[in-house]
Amino acid sequence: MKARTSFFLAAALATLFAASTARAQEKLEIFSWWAGDEGPALKALIDKYTALHPNIQVINSTVTGGSGVNARAVLKTRMLGGDPPDSFQVHAGQELIGTWVVANRMEDLSSLFASEGWNAKFPPGLIALLSSRGGIWSVPVNIHRSNVMWYVPANLKKWGVTPPKTWDEFLATCKALQAKGVAHPLVVGENWTQNHLWESVALGTLGPDDWSALWAGKLKFTDPKVVKVWDTFGKVLACSNPDAAGLSWQQATDRLLKGDGAFNVMGDWAAGYMVTTLKLKPGEGFGWEASPGTGGVFMMLSDSFGLPKGAKHRDAALLWLKLLGSREGQDIFNPLKGSIAARLDSDLGKYNAYLQSAAKDWKGDKVVGSLVHGAVAPESFGSQFGTVMEIYLSGHNAEAASSAAQAIADQVGLGK
Ligand code: GAL
Repeated sequence: MKARTSFFLAAALATLFAASTARAQEKLEIFSWWAGDEGPALKALIDKYTALHPNIQVINSTVTGGSGVNARAVLKTRMLGGDPPDSFQVHAGQELIGTWVVANRMEDLSSLFASEGWNAKFPPGLIALLSSRGGIWSVPVNIHRSNVMWYVPANLKKWGVTPPKTWDEFLATCKALQAKGVAHPLVVGENWTQNHLWESVALGTLGPDDWSALWAGKLKFTDPKVVKVWDTFGKVLACSNPDAAGLSWQQATDRLLKGDGAFNVMGDWAAGYMVTTLKLKPGEGFGWEASPGTGGVFMMLSDSFGLPKGAKHRDAALLWLKLLGSREGQDIFNPLKGSIAARLDSDLGKYNAYLQSAAKDWKGDKVVGSLVHGAVAPESFGSQFGTVMEIYLSGHNAEAASSAAQAIADQVGLGK
C-alpha cells in the first residue's frame, strides 16, 4: 500500500515537474532599438507583461542606434534568414508596408483589431497609415512628434533671445547669439539627426500642404520651392557644431543642457530622456516650441510592433501585442517614453506638462507624417535619403541634391 502511494506521489511529482519545465520554456523575443537610455519605457512594459504572464520568459533583443539605423539592418538579415523575432519595432506607415508587408512576411492583424475593439480606439488616420492590401499590419504603441525645438529657458533668458518662429528669424537669432559668444547656437548630432533637422526645415519652409504633396508624388524635388529648402538648410546648418557626426542624439541633448548651444531640433523622445533619465522638469529644466515655421502643424510618427510570419512564439507575441494596444499598456509606456498614447482614451493625468501640450497639439494641429521615421516614404526612399544628404553636404549644391532626390523618387515610384 505504502509502495503504491509513493509510486503515485512520484508520478504526480514527475508530471508537475514536466509541466513546470514546459512552462518555464515559454518565451517571447521582442526586437527594437530601445537600448540603454532609450530602454526604461520598454522595460516598464516588459515588467507588466511578465507580471501578467509569469510563465513566459521575455527576451529583450535590442540593437543600439537612434532611429533604428542599425536595428533595421539586423532585422533584415534575420527576416531574410528565416529567423524572425516574435515581434519587432517598426514605424507605422511606409516603413513596414513598403518592406515586409509587400514581401508577404507579416501576419494581417485585422482580426486582433476587431476582437480587441481597436478600430474604435485608435484615430482613423492612424489605422489608415497601418493598413494596406486589405490588412492592418502592426499595433501602434505611441505617437511621437518630430518637429520640436528644445531649449533651456534660463539660458535663453541669459542671452536675451526667444525661440524663433520662422527659419529666417532663426538665422537672425543665430547671429545675435554668436555676437554674444555662443559659437554654435544649434546643436546637431550624427547623420540621421541632420536628416531629422532637414525634415523640420522642409516642413517650415514648404508648409504642410506642399510637404504632403512631395510624398504623394505631386510636387517634384526639383521644383524651385523644394530646391530652396536646401539653401535654407545650408544656412541653418552653418549655425551648428562642427563635430556633429560624433554625437548621438542624447549627447546632442546633453550639449544643449550644458549651454554649449541654444537650440536642438529633435523628436520628443528627447523629452523622455530629459524627464525619465535626467529627471528634469518640463518648462523649467527644458522648454520647447514647434520647430520654426511649423506652429500649428504636428509632424507625427508612431512606433508599432508587428507579427512576422513564422514567429516561433506566436501565442506569446499575440499577448504582447494585446498589452501594447491596451489602455493600461500605453499609459505605462508613454509617460516614460516621451510620447503620447496612440489610443484615444488614455489617462492624461498620468502625463507630464510637455506631453499634455503635445496631446493638445495632436488633437488640434494639422497632422503630417515624418520622412525620417518611416511614415510617409517607403524604406527604399528613406534609406537612400542619406546619400542625397551626402551629395548636398559635399558641395552645398542645392540643385544637385534636389535632382538626386527626384531620381530616387522616380526609381522607387514615390506616391504611386
Ligand atoms: C525614432 C523612434 C523613437 C526613438 C527615436 C530615437 O525613430 O520612433 O521611438 O526611439 O527614434 O532613437
